[in-house]
Amino acid sequence: MKGIICAEVERFEWTESLPEPVLEAGHAIVSIKRIGICGTDLHAFKGNQPFFSYPRILGHELAGIIEGIGYNEQGLTVGDQVSIIPYVHCGVCIACRSGKTNCCTDMSVLGVHRDGGMRERISVPVACLLSANGLTLDQTAVLEPLAIGAHAVRRSGLAAGETALVIGGGPIGLGVMAIAKHIGAKVIAMDISGDRLSFCEQWAGTDALVNALQDEPVQRIMDACGGELPTVVFDATGNARSMGDSFRYVAHGGRLVFVGLVKADITFNDPEFHKRELTLMASRNATREDFDTVLEALSAGSIDVNRYITHRAPLAEMIEQFQGWLKPESRVIKAMVEL
Ligand SMILES: NC(=O)c1ccc[n+]([C@@H]2O[C@H](COP(=O)([O-])OP(=O)(O)OC[C@H]3O[C@@H](n4cnc5c(N)ncnc54)[C@H](O)[C@@H]3O)[C@@H](O)[C@H]2O)c1
Ligand SMILES: [Zn+2]
Ligand SMILES: [Zn+2]
Repeated sequence: MKGIICAEVERFEWTESLPEPVLEAGHAIVSIKRIGICGTDLHAFKGNQPFFSYPRILGHELAGIIEGIGYNEQGLTVGDQVSIIPYVHCGVCIACRSGKTNCCTDMSVLGVHRDGGMRERISVPVACLLSANGLTLDQTAVLEPLAIGAHAVRRSGLAAGETALVIGGGPIGLGVMAIAKHIGAKVIAMDISGDRLSFCEQWAGTDALVNALQDEPVQRIMDACGGELPTVVFDATGNARSMGDSFRYVAHGGRLVFVGLVKADITFNDPEFHKRELTLMASRNATREDFDTVLEALSAGSIDVNRYITHRAPLAEMIEQFQGWLKPESRVIKAMVEL
């Protein structure tokens, strides 16, 4: 079957001779229809994804149709449209036992630690499937990146009527904003890019915008928040400086959630942390419950997937299009590969 292998850093390989998956107990064969591309794929291609080994088939934002499946408790059958939850977890470690399958100690992510879905068919554990009949294929494929945002929002305990500051208006931060708005929170978007800020306003319907490059960000956040600081702050920048600064943007008694991650140490001023009695959290991946939250928001029409997907290519043209998606001037939010 056809597929694309990331053979080594900066080299994709088109192949028509990938082995066909064989149906095994507890697994399903899914015919892949959509593959969303994100920062993880771009970093894997550029060689700056830590713990990545080549050759690897990328693709972890997946929508498809079940082609083969045995008896299963979810009642899924051949022909069902599904989203694939790409975080294959062990089910027995301390995190899995407490329901935190998103941070399993033995996590193996499709398209990262094991081969993903950039091919015609894939075999996946039935436990990774989520029924998405009724959604479009595009909606089904963006469940994963948006579920990252839903997980961060759930972890923060953000409630309707509360104000959240979301720093970073990339595909991940936009998901946080969309879900925060969906549950009835007020959202302030912060970024260093005017383009990204306008997209936050137009697409996520954010209530206020703050450019992080301008002076006195704390004052401007307070102004946007009726004179007080927001009770919840999400950092989705992947920028260590921003993450360090973000401690100053949270109200006393508030919560700070690091959705973005960096391969660096984050330093902060303890008095700023302590006097606020801040709660600092990391947010990693998502669980089935978070996928369900996004599914519900999509079904309710709260999220405009057509504008979130800014670029498209058929599988056979992905290799040539990919270089363009790496360039900031292409203004990619989400690129989608179609089969
Ligand atoms: N929690 C998870 O499981 C998970 C999953 C996927 C990605 N991520 C991480 O989320 C982060 C964001 O991902 P993305 O794909 O949206 O990235 P992105 O690079 O597309 O977006 C980041 C945004 O942050 C803005 N930014 C950068 N520095 C800033 C600063 N100092 N102040 C304000 N804004 C700033 C950029 O202009 C950009 O709009 C990355 O660190 C990524 O690794 C986390
Ligand atoms: Zn992704
Ligand atoms: Zn586990």
